[in-house]
Amino acid sequence: MKHYLQFNDLTADEYAYLFERAALIKKKFKAYEKHHPLVDRTLAMIFEKASTRTRVSFEAGMYQLGGSVVHLTTGDSQLGRAEPIEDSAKVISRMVDLVMIRTYEQTKIEDFAANSRVPVINGLTNEYHPCQILADIFTFIEHRGSIQGKTVAWVGDGNNMANTWLQAAALLGFKVHVSTPHGYEIDEKLAVGAGGTSAGSYQFFSDPLEACRGADLVTTDVWTSMGYEAENEERKKAFADWCVDAEMMAAAKPDALFMHCLPAHRGEEVEADVIDGPQSVVWDEAENRMHVQKALMEYLLLGRVA
Ligand code: CP
Ligand code: NVA
Repeated sequence: MKHYLQFNDLTADEYAYLFERAALIKKKFKAYEKHHPLVDRTLAMIFEKASTRTRVSFEAGMYQLGGSVVHLTTGDSQLGRAEPIEDSAKVISRMVDLVMIRTYEQTKIEDFAANSRVPVINGLTNEYHPCQILADIFTFIEHRGSIQGKTVAWVGDGNNMANTWLQAAALLGFKVHVSTPHGYEIDEKLAVGAGGTSAGSYQFFSDPLEACRGADLVTTDVWTSMGYEAENEERKKAFADWCVDAEMMAAAKPDALFMHCLPAHRGEEVEADVIDGPQSVVWDEAENRMHVQKALMEYLLLGRVA
């Protein structure tokens, strides 16, 4: 049994399979062709933080695969009344086939997985957001072909998205130019690849414009992630120069793409003319969450098919 708790949990070979499989699953979806490999299977989705994309993409995706879903939040389950995570995992995993969790500390999802009879998927933690990077790389491949050898510019917070990009770079062989404000750097321990090293896959730039120079993809995220709301005002000041604008996009390659996992704040981490401009692929990126997660759920439950 495999869990998907961080990007490092799958190999480059498994990712190659998933990207191909997601393309096929997407093609079938667009052609209104039935694809029901998960009939009678149930996904439990546990949300301890808010969500739009993750909820809709997992829920719609599971129904499209022929399965069904159970939706739990901290507020409407015993999780919010301090039932131990280990007990919750033992109970929930006796009744469903797959669990997706969005929560705070990575240790919580690890504890859940350690006590689960079924595969567990990380739907975002403070440390990682692997399903999003799975979708982002799939989107890059759709638009530009293989990401191997390419350069991604990360402008902004050293957060869950940044850590996951760095894990992916070490695993799939591309580079990340990272530019974060002072005090919001990435935690290198979290960002290492599966081999325990980043193998030269990232470089730090104090100037975000320099990070974007020559990049194939420019990407950013909110200045204040969920769980850090108390720091919002302080962050607004620290991040003022880390707004992706037309000048940064002009420093990147002429055919560079712009991505943002969303939700976005125009005029903060990105200017409206960039996110709503011709280089932006944010809507494909959001839609692709569903297609790659369908491939992932199918893989975790059935292994390689066809
Ligand atoms: N990108 C993403 O995970 O969006 P939600 O918070 O809406 O799920
Ligand atoms: N870094 C953001 C991503 C939201 C999808 C957060 O954790 O809130």
